[in-house]
Amino acid sequence: MSPRQFAATLFIASSCLASSAFAVDFKSQVFTILNQKCAECHSVAKDKIKGKFAIDRVDDMKKHVKAGEPTKSTLVYTVTLPDDDEEVMPPKGKNRLTPAEVTLLKSWIQEGANFDAGAAPTAAPAAPAPAAGGVLSWTNTEGKAIQASFEGMQGADVVLKTADGTRHAFPLSKLSPESQAQAKKLASQ
Ligand code: HEC
Repeated sequence: MSPRQFAATLFIASSCLASSAFAVDFKSQVFTILNQKCAECHSVAKDKIKGKFAIDRVDDMKKHVKAGEPTKSTLVYTVTLPDDDEEVMPPKGKNRLTPAEVTLLKSWIQEGANFDAGAAPTAAPAAPAPAAGGVLSWTNTEGKAIQASFEGMQGADVVLKTADGTRHAFPLSKLSPESQAQAKKLASQ
């Protein structure tokens, strides 16, 4: 493979980072946010179900989420209203979702609003060094997660292999601090 072809391959592989390879996980990412910002008023677990809506009741969630269409999802609508709107959630502009959290919510809906995919635990940096070759959870700077095995470093890129056997090269700097640490640890083994 010529250097030019090699560079082109890397470019194609890197572009996966923003699209298909990384998916937002409901339990570890979306629910975590809703649990912090909505649970005090909308949770079966906390026995507080205002407006007959609970974030931990999938049927309620499905009423406010239109898979693949964030702009038609009332969940997105209510959390993006101005602070002083009567319908804004959480009410009165308190404890609002950050723009990054709204982006994550929208991405999850765009990707199909899957409630039980992956169940990827968020990276546990304190865990014992994972064995090279095993499937691990990786997150990028946008907070999206991927399950893949570590193949090695290629210059400043981390090469990961997903379950379908595809290799993806991601710039180390585009991974979360935890995933960067994980890659460095594996690379030094
Ligand atoms: C401090 C309490 C409180 C918090 C926190 C809160 N809500 Fe609400 N929410 C309410 C109340 C009260 C209603 C009922 C409003 C009404 O019926 O007029 C409501 C209604 C709703 C409804 C409409 C239910 C329906 O079918 O009409 C949705 C959806 C909703 N909230 C989503 C959220 C989300 C998402 C969050 C977190 C980002 C959140 N809420 C945080 C108090 C809260």
